[in-house]
Amino acid sequence: MALDRMEGLNLKQTVARGELREVEGIPFTEPMCKTWDQVKKFKARPDDLLIATYAKAGTTWTQEIVDMIQQNGDVEKCRRASTYRRHPFLEWFIQESPTDHYSGVELAEAMPSPRTMKTHLPVQLVPPSFWEQNCKVIYMARNAKDNLVSYYHFHRMAKACPEPGTWEEFIEKFMTGKVLWGSWYDHVKGWWKAKDKHRILYLFYEDMKENPKREIQKILKFLEKDMSQELLNKIVHSTSFEIMKENPMANYTTEFRGIMDHSVSPFMRKGAVGDWKNHFTVAQNEKFDEDYKKKMADTSLVFRMEL
Ligand code: A3P
Repeated sequence: MALDRMEGLNLKQTVARGELREVEGIPFTEPMCKTWDQVKKFKARPDDLLIATYAKAGTTWTQEIVDMIQQNGDVEKCRRASTYRRHPFLEWFIQESPTDHYSGVELAEAMPSPRTMKTHLPVQLVPPSFWEQNCKVIYMARNAKDNLVSYYHFHRMAKACPEPGTWEEFIEKFMTGKVLWGSWYDHVKGWWKAKDKHRILYLFYEDMKENPKREIQKILKFLEKDMSQELLNKIVHSTSFEIMKENPMANYTTEFRGIMDHSVSPFMRKGAVGDWKNHFTVAQNEKFDEDYKKKMADTSLVFRMEL
């Protein structure tokens, strides 16, 4: 990227944090709002695969697993480009440097089929063509507390997000849905409901952590693929947290030098279930649980907060 070559420029100062604006009731960044019409009109193709998640629920992990499956376990092929370029990030638009921008829609339109794309959109905002074309979707959900912790640290390191404020303030923003991509509660519930109407494989981060082989087999079945045990073991290994953390094509260190500061908090941070226990005070936890019960009273969806 051009930014990398500008000697003497303090990259940490090149991108200013912006505020959020709403599109159809969901907080988006300013550049996303401006380009929303293109996203809405996006033309999906029948063989498109969409990986959908609430931000920080394990998107990159799912992407790597899916790519490994599609490339028949060929690690080198999976290192052909960063996650960010391999799978267009549908609604994302960002001016990365004065001369460079990233548009998920443009990247997707230029990509030959079959395409795999990523989105954090709540289900009601997914471009209608995906449903018209009966596309498959893999949705990965993560328990609210770990998702919140991960999102907090991501806000600290990624300047594409607004200032998170203090931990206490961020909990409040998360609970009220006043964060980029909106309410976690509505997101997971909305997609849960949608799976009864569309071709959606609904997965959980905690299940994947507990038994990746079992969960990858679910993905294989969903994608109508067969694989030897040997290849399956290879995928489990290459997509483990430890390996992905060191993989420059999966750990977000090859892009966004002016946007993400891994010294504040690495993108591949902990990759664990239950890290929320190191963050919530007893009082914060009680308040969160009480509010959670109310917000999740109208769903059959159940999360595991620990393994
Ligand atoms: P933590 O911040 O809790 O470590 P996303 O890709 O949706 O942005 O999610 C990022 C979160 O998924 C981060 O969580 C990251 O560490 C975790 N993650 C990424 N790859 C993983 C893997 N292979 N195994 C477990 N967790 C992973």
